[in-house]
Amino acid sequence: MKPNLAHPDRNTIKSLFNAIPARYDFLNSFFSLGLDGYWRRRLVSLALSERKSEIASVASLPRNDVPKGLRENATVIARRPKADEAIPSSRINARKSILDLGVGTGKSLLEFIKKDSYQYYVGCDFSENMLLKSKERIGDQAELLACDFHDLPFSDHAFDLVTGSFMLRSVQAMKIFLSEVGRVLKSNGRAIFLELTRPKNKLVWNLAYRPYLNFYIPAVGKIFSRHDHAYQFLSQSIQSFVDPADLKRDFEATGFQEVSYTSLSLGSATIIQGRKHE
Ligand SMILES: C[S@@+](CC[C@H](N)C(=O)[O-])C[C@H]1O[C@@H](n2cnc3c(N)ncnc32)[C@H](O)[C@@H]1O
Repeated sequence: MKPNLAHPDRNTIKSLFNAIPARYDFLNSFFSLGLDGYWRRRLVSLALSERKSEIASVASLPRNDVPKGLRENATVIARRPKADEAIPSSRINARKSILDLGVGTGKSLLEFIKKDSYQYYVGCDFSENMLLKSKERIGDQAELLACDFHDLPFSDHAFDLVTGSFMLRSVQAMKIFLSEVGRVLKSNGRAIFLELTRPKNKLVWNLAYRPYLNFYIPAVGKIFSRHDHAYQFLSQSIQSFVDPADLKRDFEATGFQEVSYTSLSLGSATIIQGRKHE
């Protein structure tokens, strides 16, 4: 019988992701017909579009390895070596930090690192096996922490940008999660997420995308991932995920402002963002 993986609990999700890291990147690109790279680059360019003028000055500042506000109980998987030069206290507020939630194998975080637009790069995920893949990809260019994104090991106002790709479908209670994101953002900081959604066009949805999700993805995913139902989760959670308009309302209800979303590839992916005002 097909398991119900539309809204699995945290332990089920964790064990699914711990089981598939070897084939995750390949299947992610395969099932998105290679579009995931484009979507990630759009995420980064939208995230950075507002701060192009700041980036040149940030790139010239030294980087430090300890994100402000890191709680002692966080497990650090990889650590960026300490910068030789201490950052003058007068410039501490200029340090820019980014947190990637559900960082997985680190593909999106690496896109941010390539732009060299932040000084602290932090990724977190509760799947140790996914984090190990992330470490292979990113090395010591970021802090990689094992933690649950519903209960972040950072003090308030720690980050300029909180981001995440393809992980909102794993959120257990959206408003509680968004409050936690708001808590760790600095005033005026932004949250921006990329997620798989459903095309709005009924013909595309009924004739192509729904059969693709219901039959092709679970069958091919099972063969390649060698896991009975990891890709049932992908298929079922896309179908049951909230509409972007409802997600926008959740952002607004938790205090985010300037909330907007951008549909990509006929609505099969969406980038949603908002700003924390305080
Ligand atoms: C679909 S993968 C996306 C990985 C990566 N962001 C990407 O773009 O490919 C979702 C990731 O979120 C992580 N995740 C799910 N629920 C989580 C939670 N409650 N806390 C931390 N990480 C979680 C999973 O372990 C998995 O690595």
